[in-house]
Formats: sequence, C-alpha cells, structure tokens
Amino acid sequence: MPVQDVLWRLESAGFDRFRERDLESWFAVANGRTGTRGSLEEGSPESNPATYVAGIYGRRPDDSSGPEPLIGPQWTFLDPRLADTEVRLEIGEILEQRRVLDFRQGILFRFWRQRLPSGQEITFRSARFAALHDRQLLVLQADGHCDGTPLAFGADIPLPAGPSLEHAAFTRGRDQVDFELVARKGGRAFFSISTSESRGSLERFAAVARAAPGGQPEGSPTEALARAKKAGLTATREQHRKAWGERWEASDVVVEGDPDAQLALRFALYHLISVGDPETDFASVGARGLTGPGYNGHVFWDTEAFVLPFFLHTHPEVARQLIRYRHRTLPAARARARSLGYTGALFAWESADDGRDCTPPFALTPDHVVTPVLTGREEHHISADVAWATWRYWETTRDEEFLLRVGAEIVLETARFWSSRARRGADGCFHIAPVIGPDEYHEGVRDNAYTNELARWNLERGLETAELLSRADSSGWKALARRLKLEEADLARWRLVADQLMRRCDADTMVYEQFEDFFELEDINAAELAPRPFAGELVLGRDRLQKTQLVKQADVLMLMHMLPSAYPREVVAANYRYYEPRTSHGSSLSPGVHAVVAARLGLAEEALGYFRMAAAIDLDDRMRNAAFGIHMAAAASLWQTAVLGFGGVTAEADCLRVDPKLPASWTRLAFPFWWRDNVIRIDADRSEVRIELRSPADVALGAGSPRRLARGRYRARFGNGNWSQPEEVETG
Ligand code: BGC
Repeated sequence: MPVQDVLWRLESAGFDRFRERDLESWFAVANGRTGTRGSLEEGSPESNPATYVAGIYGRRPDDSSGPEPLIGPQWTFLDPRLADTEVRLEIGEILEQRRVLDFRQGILFRFWRQRLPSGQEITFRSARFAALHDRQLLVLQADGHCDGTPLAFGADIPLPAGPSLEHAAFTRGRDQVDFELVARKGGRAFFSISTSESRGSLERFAAVARAAPGGQPEGSPTEALARAKKAGLTATREQHRKAWGERWEASDVVVEGDPDAQLALRFALYHLISVGDPETDFASVGARGLTGPGYNGHVFWDTEAFVLPFFLHTHPEVARQLIRYRHRTLPAARARARSLGYTGALFAWESADDGRDCTPPFALTPDHVVTPVLTGREEHHISADVAWATWRYWETTRDEEFLLRVGAEIVLETARFWSSRARRGADGCFHIAPVIGPDEYHEGVRDNAYTNELARWNLERGLETAELLSRADSSGWKALARRLKLEEADLARWRLVADQLMRRCDADTMVYEQFEDFFELEDINAAELAPRPFAGELVLGRDRLQKTQLVKQADVLMLMHMLPSAYPREVVAANYRYYEPRTSHGSSLSPGVHAVVAARLGLAEEALGYFRMAAAIDLDDRMRNAAFGIHMAAAASLWQTAVLGFGGVTAEADCLRVDPKLPASWTRLAFPFWWRDNVIRIDADRSEVRIELRSPADVALGAGSPRRLARGRYRARFGNGNWSQPEEVETG
C-alpha cells in the first residue's frame, strides 16, 4: 500500500484525456538505467507509453533528425478481460480511478473500479517500480476481480515501432518473452520478461541489458531475471524500498509550514534520484530524464549546471559518472573543436550516445516557424560548464586520483579550447564572437558576459590544474602534459587570454553588460508584455526580440549563481535588479536560478515566488509541455533553491559556509549535505540553526569566520542581523 502521509505522495484521481500525457510524465518510474512513463496498463487512446533505455539511441533511415531514444517493449501492458469482455476506462462507468506515486518507496500504485455495461463491477489494483537496488530490473504486480471471478490479463507485450528501431528479434517461451532490439546506427537493448499469473493476480519481472554501438552487452537479462525470481517479489520489493530509503536519508529536504513547497520538492527529488546511475558512465542525463520524448533524450548543459550539483552533495558517485561520461566523449569534443578551426575540446551542445553534437539544424519555434537552430554552432559555454562541474567535483571530493586520471584532461582541454576561441581585436583585447549565451534570444553576439567570464575562469582553472598537479605528482603531470602535447607556451597564452579577455561591467552601476551593445537595445519591461513565464518569440516575434533587451533566461545572473564567491553581494544585487525585470523566463531553467539568487540576497519572499514558478513548470504544466517529460533542470533548481538559496550553504575553498534565510511561511528547513566525505545536517528555522557533523569540518556561519568543528551537534542563534558562533549541544 502507498504511504499515507500526503507529503510523500502525488495522487491524481479520475481520468482527464487532456492531461493524460502530462500524468504519464509525472508518474514515470525510473532508476537511471530505464525509465517507463506512467501509462495505464491497458492503454488509452490518449496514451504515449514508452520505456527508455538510458544511452540507447538510434537514427532514422535518412538520419534527418539525429539520434532518438530507442523505445523498449511495453512491459507494463495488460489486456484485462472478464470472460470475453474487454475492461477499459472508456467502456462503462468509472467508479474509481486513482494513481498514487509513493515517493518514499519509489512505487507507482493504481486503484481502479469500473462498472461494465452489464452492470458488473471490476476491481483492479497495480503496483510497479524500476528497481533501485538492481538497476536491470523492472517489476509489475496486479490483481483484478469481479465479484470473486478473476480477470484474465493476456500474454501480449507490444513493441512500439519507434523510428530509431532497425531490427527486433523475439522469442517466446512458456511464461517468458525475450527481446533483442537493435537501434539503427546505435546500440542494442535486451529485455527478458517473465509473467506468472494465478487467479486474477499477476507478477511480472522484466530484466534489461544494453550494449553500446558495436559493443558487448553489459550484463545478462536472463541472469538478472533468474536473480529476481529466486528472491521473489516480496523480497525484491523490500530491497528496492531499502535502496530508496537510503537515497532519501542522503537527500531529503524537509520544509515545514509550506506543504505545497514540500510536495514540489519531494516530487523533484523523486525524479532526480530516479535518473541517477552511480554504477556506470554509459549514459548521462537528458533534459527530460527518462520520462518523456522531449529533446529526443539529448544531454545539454542542464546536466552539469543544474542536475550535477544535486548529486554532488547527496550521491557523489553519480556526479562522478556524469563527469566520466563527458570524459568518454572527449575525442568527439576534440574533433568538433578542430572542425570549427579551434584547438582543445568543444563539447556537444546536444549530446547523445557518442558525444558528437546532435543539435538539430532546424526547429519549430513556439510561434510555429521553422527556424535554423544556431545553438549547435554558437552556444559554446557548454565546454566551460563541463569544466565547472569537473572542478566542483574536485573541490567537493578532493579526489586527486580522479583529478589526475579524468578531471584534469577535461579542465585542460577546455582551457585550451578557450585560448583558441578568443581572438585578439583591434582594441588589443581578446574577444569571443560570434556567440550565443544562455539567453538564446540574441544570436551571433560579441562577448557574452556569461561565456567570457566562465571562459576566463576555465583558463584560470587550467593553469591551477597544471600547477597543482606538477606540485602533487610531478611525474604524473609530466606524463599527462606529454600526452596532451601541452607546453609552457600554451600555459603562457592561457594567462594572457585570461588577463585580456573583454569584460564589460559599468563602473557606476556595477551591472555587467550581457554582450557588446546590449545596453543600446530597446529597453523593455517583461512583466508589462505578458504574464511570466512566456515565450518571447510569441509576444515580440523573432526579429524584434533580437533588437530588445528582453532576456530568455538567467544569463549574467547564471554566472553569479555559478561562481557565488566571485561576486560581492552589492554587485549581485545590482545585476539582479537590472536583469530580473527584463527576463521572460521563456526557458524552464530560468525561474529556479532567479529563486536561488534572490534567496541568497535575502529577498526570501521574491525567491519563494520564483520557487513556485519553477515548481509549476511540471506540476501545473506552466509551459504546456509537461507531456514531453519532466524538466530535470527545473527540478534540480528546486533543490538548489532550498539548499543553496534558503539554506544558504556555500562550499568555499576551505570551509562550508551556512547562512539560512527562510521565507516567512517556512517554519523549518532541514537537509543533509555531502561535502568532503562528511555529511553535514542542517536544520534551521528563522532564529536558530542546528548543525550536525559526521566528522570534523571547517564551518562558517553567516558572515563569520570559519571554525574547526569536531564531530557532533551544534547550535547557533540569529540576532542583530547575523548568526552567533556555533555552540556544541550536549547529547545523551
Ligand atoms: C534552454 C537551454 C536548455 C534547453 C534544454 C532551452 O530552451 O534555453 O538553456 O539547455 O532548453 O533544456
């Protein structure tokens, strides 16, 4: 049975054909290896069922639209019948139809009662999950009766004919079906599905394996199936629940006083936990995770800039695999840089199985115009974003071995890219152009602030990596430098470019100009144009957009969000005041970043408004595209707002700074935070913060200086605008 506590579950009652596809996204069950949309077992005309296998993509015969996710067999399909009568929602009368997603257990439940045209009443229940303790495994349990007569469920398991499927083979045994699916110019997926049925009750295990293009299968579905059958359904479900319990222990965020915010956070965390895979770097996280077809499962900077920090501080093994995925795609990133006339590594703006850029050349804009997509050609900040994530991993884990073997190569090759991407202008400064920043309304601009500042930061981290490794492991460093053909002259150029790369910040107002001549564009107030969020293309048209200061999403503010220690509070405040009124939030990435920045500035109520806007993107379908899958970056931005924003946690070079600033309605905010092999538990209200450390750490409160705290529990009070020094709390 699902958990009773309404703050641990999402429930939807009834059947609304216009919302069915949104609900299929909400109710997806996933475990980083596979994701299955929450479609009804028997299907419906509105349904868009799919099971995705992470990292398995195929191409259409003419390769017109790039890699598309392979769709697996519909392992949740049941064809319930009473004798020869079909049992369907649209036949007869619905007496009860409820889906309950239990976040705590990671299980989707369904309760259904239907009156047939004959007057007979059917009772049906099901539960399904993607096992978290054994990611090869999927489980479905169902039972259905009519006045004591069991329903029959049928043995068919349909295979949706996706455009990326080249070939499917299947063999059917007595109670088992095996599929081998070959994606065109892609990898392979294997499913073994076993069903046992007895008097209206059904148990089904599906086991999955996958193989990279041209590679051997990773694990055997038959063995996984045998494992599950041996353990049995009850024990398998127990292990799954235990695995979810461990994840929640490491990541739950408790909010008291605001049930809507609590529910939105748990919903977001459920989907984030569902998409992580700590075991392999086979795949990364697509913009819509494994919950829907949006963006064809492609991987964007959403992963490194939004999703990865969540894992870094709750389940660092997943963050590590996400970085390894990018490392694996370095050859493609090098080739891409080379093909555009640069050196180093330019990661794909949109990436899939092999790391080649797969941004579509054309797209349909929100105003239904087929328009060339320039992001693949010009949106290059992705390289700095990947370097940023890698560096954050290093700062948070201090894992030297990983830095030497994996991280350094990413940071150095991206630094090298920027040193070739920036060109010296007639004014003697280095410039980056033409370029697109996070604000995609303005294309082909010069010196996008976000890109330039992160490029500079990337170059500086490249130099720091070289210095650090040459000190820590001089022979390891020499070997790496030799392999990368890095010479002193390269490093000297990095220094030069970092020092002389154009920065445009108005000395009086402290506002960074988003790109050259941005301030000359027509000024515009976004809120006066339309209620936000809105698509700028629809309101102003594409041509006019480029001529105004309307911004799609946090750009300069994103920079300040990502490098919080680099910009003084008054600079962030000035930029927030400038850019916030000019932003349409046409991207789902935007409201959450505004929420974090506002929360850190102490604008807690404004931040809460943005938090709610970010939460509404999926739960209220605010962008009218929840049917295409959960917006993973927006989900992650809710965690960032709670923990980094209201919780006020900043992982600085030498200490962890904690400065909670809760909105008035939040009477308590509590969460764990993984940092340098330590778990720090923060539990705050507006007047007191309690901190529990698993091992010693340097912690600073508010604007105070860091203090070494031993393992134990501490308490600090808020008064006169700042936090007191932490005092140890006696235990026992
Ligand atoms: C945003 C990008 C984002 C992409 C995928 C676009 O609308 O502007 O920043 O990476 O969606 O979520």
